[in-house]
Amino acid sequence: MATIQVRFNEGASRDYKIEIKPNLIKEIPAYLKKHQFADRYVIITDSKVSKLYGQSLQKNLTASGIKSFLLTFPAGEKQKTLSTAEKLINKMLKLQISRSDAIIALGGGVVGDLAGFVASTYMRGIRVIQAPTTLLAMVDASIGGKTGVNVDAGKNLLGTFYQPQAVLIDPNMLKTLPSDEWENGFAEIIKYSIITKSPLFRLLNGHSLAELKTKKNLLNKIIIQCCQIKASIISKDETENELRMVLNYGHTIGHALEKYFNYSISHGKAVAIGMKFINSMAVNLDQLNKNDQNRIQKLISKYVNTSKFEQKIHTKKVYQKIWHYMQNDKKVRKSKIYFIVPKSIGHVDIQNTITKQNFLDVLPSFINE
Ligand code: GLY
Repeated sequence: MATIQVRFNEGASRDYKIEIKPNLIKEIPAYLKKHQFADRYVIITDSKVSKLYGQSLQKNLTASGIKSFLLTFPAGEKQKTLSTAEKLINKMLKLQISRSDAIIALGGGVVGDLAGFVASTYMRGIRVIQAPTTLLAMVDASIGGKTGVNVDAGKNLLGTFYQPQAVLIDPNMLKTLPSDEWENGFAEIIKYSIITKSPLFRLLNGHSLAELKTKKNLLNKIIIQCCQIKASIISKDETENELRMVLNYGHTIGHALEKYFNYSISHGKAVAIGMKFINSMAVNLDQLNKNDQNRIQKLISKYVNTSKFEQKIHTKKVYQKIWHYMQNDKKVRKSKIYFIVPKSIGHVDIQNTITKQNFLDVLPSFINE
């Protein structure tokens, strides 16, 4: 249905395709045969996705004469650790997986990040194909080659940039998506609607989550638009020297919140609160007008329910802690934290001049809400 090309400057060798097509999961064996990425495939997935799609994918590969192995780890952000990666690597060594084999990362953001990390480090790197099963992974995490695990100090602080051979998106898989996962996906989609000019903001405004869940054509259109935006950004700045930072709108605070809540908050809710925070800072600093702030706020509230967690954070003590966690953000350069500041809907700026006081100054606006 749609093919989006990710192109890098230095030539075609690392370019890859994002394929978006309903029922693509069924065509994976034929796709792999056509492209000959590897001799054998290790499907890495989590305990939930294994039952839904992993076992049947392996069966289909076997039926097509493709040798594969299915490796599963328990579902959840808490599993995204070096220890889980090591367990997977040891299993692969036992199976004598070699550099002529490849990994299929079948799952959401956790699977994609973890399997990508294993692929990038196993014997100094074997090929990986991303097959995202959640909306968040389809529109964001599976594209762009970010891999990683969480460590004690914070989220994704250990990882690599390692591009996949292909990203295979089957939007029909969303029929099994749990409701909190829809929120996760839409938080990222809202992010795209603010960071660059596109029809997305208007489209999201004109519909509701319940509607979009059932309007497959519209949802597919949204997925394609997000993938196009992301492909264009990472093609220009693969390793986040500057431009790619815009994909982190709401994430600097969001990641710190995930750490603060010990990952009991979903990524989508954390990013949604993060976007609201930075919007308030932008208004305080006269960079965003109140009308745009309200329009973004309304859109966020329409798709992501943040109230339970928001009630717990608006105290000075929590703000100090969140600021402390942000010191470890991957966008810190020369001790300065980089924030993605919205100037208007469709236009953001990358800034490193926001101070701890600017952050603390947001507190009264939330308390008065
Ligand atoms: N999810 C942000 C990025 O890929 O850069």
